Amino acid sequence: MNLMITGGAGFIGSHMARRMAPQAERIVLLDNFNNAYDPAIKWANVRALAASRNVVVVEADVRDAARVERLIVDHRITHILHLAAMANVRSSIEQSPLYTEVNVLGTVNVLEAARRHNVRQVVCASTSSVYGADSPVPFTEDAPALHPLASYPASKRAAEIIGHTFFHLFGLNITFLRLFNVYGPNGRPDMMPLRVLEAIVHGREITLFNGGQMRRDWTYIDDIVDGLCAALERPLGYRIINLGRGEPETMLAFVALLEELTGRRALTRNAPAPPSEPPITYCDNTRARELLDFAPKVSLREGLGRTWEWYRRVRGVR
Ligand SMILES: NC(=O)c1ccc[n+]([C@@H]2O[C@H](COP(=O)([O-])OP(=O)(O)OC[C@H]3O[C@@H](n4cnc5c(N)ncnc54)[C@H](O)[C@@H]3O)[C@@H](O)[C@H]2O)c1
Repeated sequence: MNLMITGGAGFIGSHMARRMAPQAERIVLLDNFNNAYDPAIKWANVRALAASRNVVVVEADVRDAARVERLIVDHRITHILHLAAMANVRSSIEQSPLYTEVNVLGTVNVLEAARRHNVRQVVCASTSSVYGADSPVPFTEDAPALHPLASYPASKRAAEIIGHTFFHLFGLNITFLRLFNVYGPNGRPDMMPLRVLEAIVHGREITLFNGGQMRRDWTYIDDIVDGLCAALERPLGYRIINLGRGEPETMLAFVALLEELTGRRALTRNAPAPPSEPPITYCDNTRARELLDFAPKVSLREGLGRTWEWYRRVRGVR
């Protein structure tokens, strides 16, 4: 397998690259190292990988169609994992043009180059937030998901729909995986788990929406990596598949677990949920179990425990 991972320096991309490096003939990690969060974190994510003989790190932008196509040709890419995206619900509220450009046009560039050069399988990251606030729970892939609450999920849903045309017209194999609330070591600093952990460790206040009653279906990174690997290995035509644990927890329970692990108290403040936030994400992972043999193994307690151990080690916290 000659694999291109777009967004390869990010949280999920760099975990995938570490998993795939021993088995893939070649891995091209494409990333524009943007400053949505500190680019130094992204460079650190790929530093050790760049030393592997079969891994190439390329600073490039998926909006540059010619560059993407050149890389696919030059490296004889057979499989693509397309993760590059602007990926934060709340930051998308004020940046709709950028989110649309990167997440829609960027995806079209990748799919267009893939179909021209006979790439065997493309796996694209979509998101549980496409389900918005009016899909029945647990979320199943057949829900229409036509009422996204912000530009980020709207752009991801648009990409899924455009993806269908590449399958229909050109027979390109494309699997869109709707990822549910991914967390773990090397996690994104702009996401809830690390923000809450930082706040607890530094004695800062945390805002919990709706009295901490919002529920999220937290899914540990290693389980997500298992699902992404299975999807890469199984061309299935055009598919949309949920990838999540299927056990939503309230934010109150989430914070309580971190308090227990860290032995520190959280200072919390209540606020009404912004209109971009759905009250719950809840994965029905039946399809992933059937098609990808997906079987998430890591409970929230175990996963947060591993995340806390990682955090202590890298930050030198006792
Ligand atoms: N982490 C989650 O909980 C979660 C949930 C659902 C979906 N996803 C999706 O999974 C994918 C990976 O997410 P992540 O959490 O690793 O985020 P991340 O921000 O760590 O990784 C995304 C990477 O894409 C790169 N990138 C952004 N725009 C680019 C561009 N124009 N050209 C090239 N590279 C670009 C960024 O620099 C970053 O390194 C994203 O598509 C995201 O939408 C993540």
